[in-house]
Amino acid sequence: MADTLSVTDNRTGKTYTLPVEQGAIRAADLSQIKAGGDDPGLTCYDPSFGNTAACKSKVAYIDGHKGILRYRGYPIEELAEKSSYLEVAYLIVKGELPTASRFAMWQHNIKTHTLVHENLKRFMEGFRYDAHPMGILIATVGALSTFYPEARNVSDVHSRRMQTRRLIGKMPTIAAFAYRHSRGQPYVYPDNELSYTGNFLSMLFKMTELRYKPNPVLEKALDILFILHADHEQNCSTSTMRVVGSALADPYSCVSAAAAALSGPRHGGANEEVVHMLHQIGSTAKIPELIKQVKAGERRLMGFGHRVYKNYDPRAKIIRQIAHEVFEVTGKNPLIDIAIELERIALQDDYFIKRKLYPNVDFYSGIIYEAMGFPMEMFPVLFAIPRTAGWMAQWAELLADEEQRIARPKQLYVGHGTRGYVPIEQRDEVGADETEVRGPL
Ligand code: CMC
Repeated sequence: MADTLSVTDNRTGKTYTLPVEQGAIRAADLSQIKAGGDDPGLTCYDPSFGNTAACKSKVAYIDGHKGILRYRGYPIEELAEKSSYLEVAYLIVKGELPTASRFAMWQHNIKTHTLVHENLKRFMEGFRYDAHPMGILIATVGALSTFYPEARNVSDVHSRRMQTRRLIGKMPTIAAFAYRHSRGQPYVYPDNELSYTGNFLSMLFKMTELRYKPNPVLEKALDILFILHADHEQNCSTSTMRVVGSALADPYSCVSAAAAALSGPRHGGANEEVVHMLHQIGSTAKIPELIKQVKAGERRLMGFGHRVYKNYDPRAKIIRQIAHEVFEVTGKNPLIDIAIELERIALQDDYFIKRKLYPNVDFYSGIIYEAMGFPMEMFPVLFAIPRTAGWMAQWAELLADEEQRIARPKQLYVGHGTRGYVPIEQRDEVGADETEVRGPL
């Protein structure tokens, strides 16, 4: 009886024994529990997947109560200190840290895919001057699928590998072009002599100099930020990647969909919202007023709270530390003082203590990005670039998993029973409730 769960259905008095595997029962096992007649069987109701594991994964491990994050078993703190983004991307995608020769080959393979087709560049030029760079990124990554039609062959491992290299290689280029577009500046082509983040900074900020020399402190800080954002198990955008991938859509369409999910203010758009919020309050004197509004349910404290972390997000801790190194170069962003004080006050407040709301990865990242000269609209884009490695690893895992079929959740139908159609001239105008007639839209 070990590793089983006994369930008694009080409607029928029957008891069922369900296997427990890795702390989970299979939801499908519940369907044998029937009240009788034509009952299709018991199902689970779990809006927003608060307590549902949809896959088995080996990529990232999170213990939200202890504030632990590991990629493929390696603690995030150690990777941030000792590794580089491209090495971590290899680890995430391939499953192991590379040997020296494999790493050299991997770097070569990524760097030879940084250029984009000139037609793609022209596609980007079609956006309005004030287009949000995240919108440009989402559309342009989706458009890449038309340049690489063989990517539709998702069962071909060689094609999967090629698209993975292309995506990791081209994301910084597309992101930088999107930024230059919004500035009305000419696009800068990749410089493959530079590091991954050094080249990205060059494509963003190079002006008329013959060669852009990235500041090593900023280059390293951005690299660490990329490591911290490389994967985060089954979050909203990764789940989107898997859902779209389960229909066997090509990886460019999947990444575009995942980036769209990431753009929302509750997900990767939160770092932009944090900086907006800090600018809006403007000084530490206004913090009590902000906290009052948050507690009254009028707004959320952006950069706080997490579905999984009920403790300090380990990524936020590391980011808070590197902020000071960045400020040595850029000068201090005064928002940091407001953020630190806001964190201090919130962490002593019952509202936040009771709900276990701590700073998450987005609380401090935007402040660093702003100090480095990024406009706010670029913040979610800076999240999407490194997350591409995680998305691709999770996508490959999905395709190799024989248990996975097309994603298709159930619903509990709570609408009308069968109704007879009423011709339009017989429908009652008077007294019809506005919301009932128009629905939620
Ligand atoms: N400010 C104020 N109250 C909050 C916040 C917040 N940031 N986050 C959660 N709560 C409250 C919420 O009102 C609820 O209270 P009550 O029980 O009284 O109704 C309780 O805490 C639980 O909240 P929830 O909405 O059920 O939690 P969730 O797990 O569905 O949401 C979240 C997680 C990240 C969407 C949410 O905490 C949030 O909106 N945070 C602000 C946005 C943000 O910083 N997002 C970045 C997340 S980290 C980056 C990433 O991985 O995407």
